[in-house]
Amino acid sequence: MSGGIDEQATRELLVAFAASLYARGFSVGSAGNISVRLDDGYLITPTNSSFGRLRAGQISRLDTNFAHVGGEKPSKEVFMHRAFYTVRPDCGAVVHLHSTMATAVGCLADADAERPIPPLTPYFVMRVGRTLPLVRYFRPGDPEMEPAIAAAAKGARAVLLANHGPVVSGRTLTDAVYAAEELEEAAKLYLLLRTANPRQLTEAQVDDLLTTFR
Ligand code: 13P
Repeated sequence: MSGGIDEQATRELLVAFAASLYARGFSVGSAGNISVRLDDGYLITPTNSSFGRLRAGQISRLDTNFAHVGGEKPSKEVFMHRAFYTVRPDCGAVVHLHSTMATAVGCLADADAERPIPPLTPYFVMRVGRTLPLVRYFRPGDPEMEPAIAAAAKGARAVLLANHGPVVSGRTLTDAVYAAEELEEAAKLYLLLRTANPRQLTEAQVDDLLTTFR
């Protein structure tokens, strides 16, 4: 137990969510990483670990300065997560996936830079927000990604990394996972409907959702 957040329970919840994401194909192989803010630091999935076979004791522990202090070697994308925690004080967890549909949208050469996925359904807007900035391509693990993500995350709960995948934040681990799942479904709907002239939610409907479900 560390302060108000129960670290052991958080580790177990992270393992359960990772296994669930893996079982449903949101992550394959060793793709993706998940972090959670504790009262005195952070938990993050180890580098090259599989969401399908994580153990609570193996998860990497970072101090409040993101230095590695326990568990296995942390994800090479620590700075990707740090970008969100630094610019979004209400951020309690970050989920990065290579989920197929969202990643496919991030590969479209004509993807909109602020709204690569349009507001088609209320839950996408409620969980992910008004915008999903597209961050230009960087090699995985490239620390140059951090300032680019930080700039984009100032005004958005999630970003889409071009040709790589989504990075989604939430107040809690549960919020971040639900938002990442909703984003993937919204990307799927968009790709299904892309050539069919779908009806989008209006700006007034988006405003209504964002003020009603804060
Ligand atoms: P790690 O195994 O270092 O977490 O990297 C996986 C990944 O998703 C890279 O973007």
